[in-house]
Amino acid sequence: MSYYEIQGGRPLEGTLAIHGAKNSVLPILAACLLVPGQCILHNCPDLSDVSATLDILRLLGCRVDRSGDTVSVDAGTLSRSGIPERLMREMRSSVIFLGALLARLGAAELSYPGGCELGSRPIDLHLSALRTLGAEIKEEQGALCCRDEGMRGRELCLSIPSVGATENIMLAACGCPGLTTIVGAAREPEIVDLQNFLQEMGAAVTGAGTSTVAIRGGLPLHPAEHRVMGDRIAAATYLCAAAAAGGEIEVTGVEPGYLTAVLACLEEAGCTLHAGPETIVLASSAPLKGISPVRTAPYPGFPTDCQAILMAALAGGEGATLFVENIFDSRYRHVDELRRMGADIQVAGQAAMVSGVGRLHAAAVRSTDLRGGAALVVAGLAAEGVTRVSELRHIRRGYQALDENLRTLGAEIRLLP
Ligand code: UD1
Repeated sequence: MSYYEIQGGRPLEGTLAIHGAKNSVLPILAACLLVPGQCILHNCPDLSDVSATLDILRLLGCRVDRSGDTVSVDAGTLSRSGIPERLMREMRSSVIFLGALLARLGAAELSYPGGCELGSRPIDLHLSALRTLGAEIKEEQGALCCRDEGMRGRELCLSIPSVGATENIMLAACGCPGLTTIVGAAREPEIVDLQNFLQEMGAAVTGAGTSTVAIRGGLPLHPAEHRVMGDRIAAATYLCAAAAAGGEIEVTGVEPGYLTAVLACLEEAGCTLHAGPETIVLASSAPLKGISPVRTAPYPGFPTDCQAILMAALAGGEGATLFVENIFDSRYRHVDELRRMGADIQVAGQAAMVSGVGRLHAAAVRSTDLRGGAALVVAGLAAEGVTRVSELRHIRRGYQALDENLRTLGAEIRLLP
């Protein structure tokens, strides 16, 4: 089983171009199903979640090609509406195919994505919204069988601003005649990227980035070419790594305005930051200071996906910081691993009190989930000694060439064996 070996304590220096956003490319790949023709996507990251999504598209009958970071998807040959359980299990976000398949074929058969490493992740909001639009959805022994029974645009109200539900509805609504309005929509930048792609295909979608998204469905769509936005969470990961290990780095290809909540925390912790168009420079002479409570919240609040990563950076700093996880009910699984590295973190329900210990020490640790794994790498880069991080399959879901990129910045990290 491969693992990263990290010699901690090397400051990071240099410039890094950030790859395309995982959370943007997955719904955009599903959106390719909406047109019977070839869509071309640039800045498509090489991640295991992307490979799994491309496998699903192939299985559905699409022609898929990849050359470097450009992926083409031709859904002109789409021939199936069912996704087998094996592929659904690989990636929870494959539930996004529901909306796209309903819009294009009027039918979809998927298995229930079930729970995941972040605790229970229901899809009730996705299902009730699609039912309101006129889909008939039968749930039997973990299988979902969906049919378009006269779907039409309607006003929908989300009780939680769910990212996945907002995207699923946007895709389904493209195939529903009439106006669909999503009230209480999630406002994440990745939803704006999906809207941009849909507009490029000729869809009438507006309002993404605000809490009301409107879709006038049933219009003829055409193939489009699109550049996927930069990954704000990957950018935040490298910035937290430099914050913890010290040094000065620049990340490019990401909009600083999408990271306002994270950058404010890093600044409060003692880092110096400069933002330009699509670029962020961070300088840190660790140790970091404790900061005001970090409460995860829907965008534009502090992203839950950055909680573990910032926690890892602050655990080896000085002073105390309270974290409150408001989005997922089981997102502190990295804490036990950080404790192996000497971290002092007390968890009580949704809260985690981090008391900086000055410096973490090396240990053999296991990734528990995607961002938890990245957090351990951040911790290892700053820690004293040689840290081993295993279970890298979690990390590969969302980071392209993490070790290579960190080496470019001067880190001593090796992939073994
Ligand atoms: C997306 C991101 C994930 C990020 C999360 C929150 C992708 C591929 N993944 O996940 O990286 O951590 O947003 O920013 O984009 N909920 C329900 N019922 C539903 C749907 C959601 O109760 O039908 C709840 C969830 O349990 C969670 C909250 O709503 O507590 C937010 O989840 P949601 O925004 O849907 O997250 P995902 O789209 O799954």
